[in-house]
Amino acid sequence: MKAILFNGYGKLKDHILLQDIPTPVPAENEVLVQIFAASINPVDYKIVHGAMRLLHRFKLPQTLGFDLSGIVVSVGKNVSEFNIGQEVYGRVGDTHPGTFAEYITVEPKYLAIKPRNITHEEAACLPLVGQTTVQALTKICEAKARQKILIHAGSGGIGMFAIQYAKYLKMHVATTTSTANIERVKALGADVVIDYKTQNYLELIKDYDIVYDTLGAQTKLDSMQILKLGGKLVSIVGPPDRAFAVRMHLGFFLKTFLTLMNLKIQRIAKKNKIDYYYWLMQSDGKLLDEITKIVETGAIKVYIDKTFALEQVLEALQYVEAGRTKGKVVIKIR
Ligand SMILES: NC(=O)c1ccc[n+]([C@@H]2O[C@H](COP(=O)([O-])OP(=O)(O)OC[C@H]3O[C@@H](n4cnc5c(N)ncnc54)[C@H](OP(=O)(O)O)[C@@H]3O)[C@@H](O)[C@H]2O)c1
Repeated sequence: MKAILFNGYGKLKDHILLQDIPTPVPAENEVLVQIFAASINPVDYKIVHGAMRLLHRFKLPQTLGFDLSGIVVSVGKNVSEFNIGQEVYGRVGDTHPGTFAEYITVEPKYLAIKPRNITHEEAACLPLVGQTTVQALTKICEAKARQKILIHAGSGGIGMFAIQYAKYLKMHVATTTSTANIERVKALGADVVIDYKTQNYLELIKDYDIVYDTLGAQTKLDSMQILKLGGKLVSIVGPPDRAFAVRMHLGFFLKTFLTLMNLKIQRIAKKNKIDYYYWLMQSDGKLLDEITKIVETGAIKVYIDKTFALEQVLEALQYVEAGRTKGKVVIKIR
């Protein structure tokens, strides 16, 4: 089968290969999925840059890609959750990427039945951004109706899902975006749209309940100023924190390192009486089942910026790496 692999860490153009490799055979606890579409997420190029090396060491060359939509074509003998012919979608496990390929073996716990009202290309856009956002807002921040949330980068893959999900929860939503994308995020239901090219969100909004940080760095620190006392800031951009290190059972050195990396933000959060959380998504097919139900109500739609062929993954990764994506970028495989 055809697959996209990376063979070293550094610049995308030096390490992305299209190769013919053997079609994998599912183990007793896996299914084989024929992939119809995959989507690109920033983590795909960050892995090649080497940004995730502290967390996962891959044996190179390694196939790339986490999001998929496709059809089950073979089932291991211990699998009872799925049958041959079912249309599924999902975000595969952290240590087993490889959805930029014609086939992949997956444990059923990462999969759900694809929403019936959308195409495979649209479905492939949902698992990573959807699960990250539902976990960050609902599980971590316990978001509720009528609460006020600021979602940074409303026109990105995460942002476009998050605005719609927060509106589905009946929250009041503010978002930041550039001039060119204002109408796009308004159409998703954002109540307050702040043009970061011409306006300063710190002067425009205050007493918010939640900030969903998708930008990191100074934005993460500054955003605390618009939260009310007891407000919550959840960031999905590193560095990870000590709580993450404990959850991932990282060793003493990494735990200490991540604690030190977060001293400043924890100090400012404490001073401002804010709860700060770092969140790294956990793939969970049962949560994806919940997302399927919401998508099937029509409350959340998928916005595809560009579609590429499998042979064009390098170009697709470079497009996302440039940071100007509106919604999602898809790889159409079949
Ligand atoms: N921890 C986790 O589990 C997790 C999960 C998913 C994603 N992430 C991370 O979250 C981040 C966002 O992911 P994504 O998929 O949404 O990325 P993305 O789709 O590549 O984001 C691109 C968008 O960001 C907007 N943007 C850039 N700078 C901005 C600024 N200063 N203010 C407002 N908007 C800005 C751009 O809009 P303009 O062109 O208008 O500037 C563009 O629409 C990435 O770093 C990713 O790695 C983490």
